[in-house]
Amino acid sequence: MKTIKTLFGLGALAGGGLLAYAWGAERPQLRLKSYRLVWPQGAGLKILHLSDQHLGRENWVQQLRFSQLEAMLPLFDPDIILFTGDFLHDDAGLAAVERMMQALPPARLGRYAVLGNHDYAVYSYGELFRNMARSVGQAATPERKLSALVAEAGQLGSLALDIYRNHRLRFAAVPNNTAELVRLLSLYDVILLDNRAVPLPGRPDIWIAGVDDLVEGEPDLARAMAHIPEEAGVILLTHNPDLAYEPAARRADIVFAGHTHGGQVALPWLGAIHTQGTRLPRKHAAGYFNDLPGGGQMIVSRGMGESTPFRLGAPPEMVWVEVA
Ligand SMILES: [Fe+2]
Repeated sequence: MKTIKTLFGLGALAGGGLLAYAWGAERPQLRLKSYRLVWPQGAGLKILHLSDQHLGRENWVQQLRFSQLEAMLPLFDPDIILFTGDFLHDDAGLAAVERMMQALPPARLGRYAVLGNHDYAVYSYGELFRNMARSVGQAATPERKLSALVAEAGQLGSLALDIYRNHRLRFAAVPNNTAELVRLLSLYDVILLDNRAVPLPGRPDIWIAGVDDLVEGEPDLARAMAHIPEEAGVILLTHNPDLAYEPAARRADIVFAGHTHGGQVALPWLGAIHTQGTRLPRKHAAGYFNDLPGGGQMIVSRGMGESTPFRLGAPPEMVWVEVA
């Protein structure tokens, strides 16, 4: 009996330690991930790729990441800066978006962005639990309360299953002030590529295309690609990497994406627990891949932030790419 108690205590201690690490130790450590890509048409391009900031009200994790970002950014001289969405967690993060814009280094060929699902909506766990408590609290008799509790527990179980199966998550969402975010981006010369493409200034042989978010936006990849000259090289920005598996994405030479947060929890042998998508293979939750259906290359960033405050085996990152 004593042995069982000791084992149980040790297990609880290890679990608690792991949770504490995932909550407070890995999240504030912003890493730099560098790639050297072979793409003769774009040889010489230097690219800074920033994704999934999930900025909200100031807190110590956001502050620490910002100090690291502000220390690192002046070390880079990118030709282009790419943002692949989820700037916001909620509207309280608009001030931090502006602070980030002010810290960016110059980019002689421009700054480009697409929006992510969180730029449109806050997925409110708080609202979800409040709704559950309300539904149980409003039940008139103890029997009905019990049955409401069982029903809500079932909903939670099905949400957990959806997370594991990479199904699209649906729970209480509150709209974000997307219009103000778009205004801020334009104020800092960030070109929003909402289902459209533009040539790089002075480089009509390279176009950069962007598509709206798959979950909360109105993506039209065919429209984004429609006016690109046949001989031009194409860089595609999409928040959700699932869109890189659409037929129209075959036109892209390099795809930049975010959204997955690298699975947020990536376990030995099992890998990422959740890629937040249905088409991106689980083993591609983050990193560089060259096995897209059209033969294109893709970088999926783990992103710089997250909404659910845990990261384990998937630290936040900013991405630097040199094309050769
Ligand atoms: Fe995200």
